[in-house]
Amino acid sequence: MKIEELFSVKGKVALVTGGSRGIGEMIAAGYLENGAKVYISSRKKEQCDATAKRLSERYGAECISIPANLSDLAGIDALVAELKSREDHIDILVNNAGVSWGAPLDEFPEIGWDKVFDTNVKGVFFLTQRLLPLLEARATKDEPSYVINIGSIDGLRAASFDTQSYGPSKAALHSLTQQLAAKLAKRNIIANAIAPGPFPTWMLSTGVGTGGDVENTDWDAVGRLNPRKRVGTPEDISGLAIFLSSRACGFTVGAVITCDGGTVVS
Ligand SMILES: NC(=O)c1ccc[n+]([C@@H]2O[C@H](COP(=O)([O-])OP(=O)(O)OC[C@H]3O[C@@H](n4cnc5c(N)ncnc54)[C@H](OP(=O)(O)O)[C@@H]3O)[C@@H](O)[C@H]2O)c1
Repeated sequence: MKIEELFSVKGKVALVTGGSRGIGEMIAAGYLENGAKVYISSRKKEQCDATAKRLSERYGAECISIPANLSDLAGIDALVAELKSREDHIDILVNNAGVSWGAPLDEFPEIGWDKVFDTNVKGVFFLTQRLLPLLEARATKDEPSYVINIGSIDGLRAASFDTQSYGPSKAALHSLTQQLAAKLAKRNIIANAIAPGPFPTWMLSTGVGTGGDVENTDWDAVGRLNPRKRVGTPEDISGLAIFLSSRACGFTVGAVITCDGGTVVS
């Protein structure tokens, strides 16, 4: 099979949660540039709509915004209902929306556990559960559908920031990925996880002390701490996401693949 077919996402329908910015936007852009139709979702309607418009124009492709809060069942059900009214199937689900909470160990509040686990673990489970009919609708043994969960290297080793609940939530997500993958493989749905290292996003800017100011963060300085001497790029993450949602990934099931410049192995 030629590489164009082996790694193709052309004509596929994808949902990328948290696609309004950061890693989700990078993955959505990679799909759009390669011929997929992409739905993106996040809580802030204005930003989600603006990103969908910008990406549609940039790639001459269809990017559609469906804002929703995916940390609760009402938001999840609203997104699923809207998607069902527009599509009879989806081929790719990227559970990327995620949050962190920073506070020192001795002061860490209960809400820092609830918000993080509701979004990063519980929400992923219920969105995937409720999207199974759409994921199964056209999936076959030869042409499965794909679920990608965005975990973190903080779920593989101790986190470098004062986040307490974030690493455990990502370890739980990696475990959930394996559990779902084992069950879904029999239903022609292939699930895997990506564990990213440092990517230049809003979330990481809050971790490195620039409080959400992505543009004015010294990403070169952050990158110098990485074995590859740089932070991640859109190509790094979208290349892996495209592999995990194409024919090339037909027998790779339940894996947690790092995309971290070598941090974990170093
Ligand atoms: N950046 C990194 O270095 C890094 C490293 C490892 C793992 N990750 C993981 O990669 C994923 C993306 O992170 P990022 O760095 O791109 O973060 P980000 O810039 O903060 O983006 C997070 C995205 O998720 C959305 N979101 C947050 N809570 C949501 C909710 N309850 N419902 C729906 N959407 C929600 C946000 O939009 P709204 O605010 O509008 O909802 C935004 O679109 C996360 O799962 C994160 O844990 C990131």
